[in-house]
Amino acid sequence: MKEQLQALRERALAELAELAEPRALEDFRVRLLGKKGEVTALLRGMGAVPAEERPAMGQLINSLRAEIEDALAAREAEVALKLKNERLAAETLDVTLPGKAADKGGLHPLSIVLEDLIDIFRSMGFDVVDGPEVETEHYCFEALNVPKDHPARDMQDTFYLGEELLLRTQTSAAQIRVMENRKPPIRIICPGRVFRADEVDATHSPVFHQVEGLVVDKGITLCDLKGVLTQFAQEIYGADTRVRFRPSFFPFTEPSVEVDVSCSACGGTGCRVCKGAGWIEILGAGMVHPRVLAGCGIDPEEYSGFAFGIGLDRLTTTRYKISDIRLLFENDQRFLSQFKEGGK
Ligand code: PHE
Repeated sequence: MKEQLQALRERALAELAELAEPRALEDFRVRLLGKKGEVTALLRGMGAVPAEERPAMGQLINSLRAEIEDALAAREAEVALKLKNERLAAETLDVTLPGKAADKGGLHPLSIVLEDLIDIFRSMGFDVVDGPEVETEHYCFEALNVPKDHPARDMQDTFYLGEELLLRTQTSAAQIRVMENRKPPIRIICPGRVFRADEVDATHSPVFHQVEGLVVDKGITLCDLKGVLTQFAQEIYGADTRVRFRPSFFPFTEPSVEVDVSCSACGGTGCRVCKGAGWIEILGAGMVHPRVLAGCGIDPEEYSGFAFGIGLDRLTTTRYKISDIRLLFENDQRFLSQFKEGGK
């Protein structure tokens, strides 16, 4: 039996030295030391050993068991260390490599200026509303006091989509929708795209942007209009900006004005940005025509209001000294990436 033990010992230790996988080591443990394992079977077979040899034999088997257990534990530790080293080698991280900067997106210049504009009007108590780009003749013209044969319709070359439907030529269409649905006091702005059949050049585009504004309440006067729009212009262009109100004409306002600001590039002396004029026109405005109020069910004897339409593209090109409006629509990355940091 001693030889049997010796043979088992040699075979077990030799086999153990070959095993390199945790699973194979576990199999080995079960096969030799488990309940039905070979070493356990030897202990069970002690019955066949003559009684006087049993203690010595038991000791031999137990020390073999202990030896195999120790060898197995040592081999397991070796294998685990080897696997860990292999994993670490595969995961090598070279902290001296140059980093990759994440490429941050940015806002379109029109969005930057629009967000500033919205902040300014919000701080004066205006709500922001939305209106449809596809409009009816009623909202875009009729209700704004521009009947079918009115010469003002020629001023705005319209894209028609059918008999009645068109792409809105002005955000003023939104005024009517608001007045039909809200009771005064009303204080809203409505930013959005507008469309006119214009030839494309450095200052014209068939798609451009306006921000409509409307205030209706008791006792609103031209002074309120001047106050709000002066405040707005000076917040956008700077506190020392001069603001000029010129008489003008719009069918839906009476009286009507156009508003110019002193050129932010030259301070009013005349330059390329203001085409030598020293002034830049930024919006049209006026007191809402009584007929427009009445058409929306608002009594012009009781209420009055003012409206304005700001040219967002002009605001943007003058702020950033952009010489060609087409740059705002072409989405050339080389142009847009210059505005990444956003803000003023
Ligand atoms: N809708 C006018 C335009 O497109 C601007 C405007 C708006 C004028 C509101 C007066 C009041 O030219």
